[in-house]
Amino acid sequence: MSGEYGLSFKRRHLLGIEGLQPFEIADLLDRADGYVEQSRRTDKKLSTLRGLTQVNLFFENSTRTRTSFELAGKRLGADVVNMSVQGSSIKKGETLIDTAMTLNAMHPDVLVVRHQDSGAVELLARHVRCAVINAGDGSHEHPTQALLDALTIRRRKGRIEGLTVAICGDVLHSRVARSNLHLLLTMGARVRLVGPPTLLPASMRAFGADLFFDMRKGLEGVDIVMMLRLQLERMQGSYVPSTREYFSLFGLTRDKLAHAKPDALIMHPGPMNRGVEIDGVVADDIDRSAILDQVEMGVAVRMACLDILTEPLREAA
Ligand code: NCD
Repeated sequence: MSGEYGLSFKRRHLLGIEGLQPFEIADLLDRADGYVEQSRRTDKKLSTLRGLTQVNLFFENSTRTRTSFELAGKRLGADVVNMSVQGSSIKKGETLIDTAMTLNAMHPDVLVVRHQDSGAVELLARHVRCAVINAGDGSHEHPTQALLDALTIRRRKGRIEGLTVAICGDVLHSRVARSNLHLLLTMGARVRLVGPPTLLPASMRAFGADLFFDMRKGLEGVDIVMMLRLQLERMQGSYVPSTREYFSLFGLTRDKLAHAKPDALIMHPGPMNRGVEIDGVVADDIDRSAILDQVEMGVAVRMACLDILTEPLREAA
């Protein structure tokens, strides 16, 4: 797969969704659509990235994102190396640039980077010669998550434009919420942010989102209910009274879901805290929940990102 799509995507890195044009997003999603079918075959392996080296550099723990990027690279025929780095927060400046220089000397073609600090992936991208994909930086952006969510929505609902999406819970600490907000608004959806005032930054109104502090009102008539994990590891101090009270006010239950459209889809980026932000029965409802579709779309979207960013290299070879 090449040529016919890639000419519109001219960026060297994928650091965030903010600033991407609708045609660039559509280009990535169209290409990912093809990779969904490829991943369902018995022989999943292509040679698109043969000879290229992909390094997954994770300064923060991750299961699904790292595995998904690893599978994506392998299915495209790249050599994939995983590096986990336990970043010291005192020395993070030096650690990052040192690591970038070390990696540079090994001639990787793509770096997939996750880091606990917002902006760290962009900083690293300035010090390496290869393409960089942001796999999540602090509470800033997680672009491939928003793209896989968009692909899930597009395939299940046939479109993104005109839909109303409620993003619910810990928006303040969520890079998933930020990337989704940019993508959904860019592609013509309406976005509601739903949660307690302590976890909803008022500044997000400026982007064009509507804020709701009441779950039932926020879910009224929506097409998509996107739940977020309470990111306790990013909270200093107390943002919610107790997880029990949080569940009773903002946890997604059948009763609250009844306010959304009858065919509203339930989404969650994972990992889920059952009984905190989502009731287990709702999460497992195979008619309503798209949570496992999201995981499947994740591999296809990451294949598309790897493909598109390495295209200039392959064309030059
Ligand atoms: C998200 C992340 O790491 O930002 N998870 C993921 O990538 N699948 C969301 C989260 O950790 O809650």
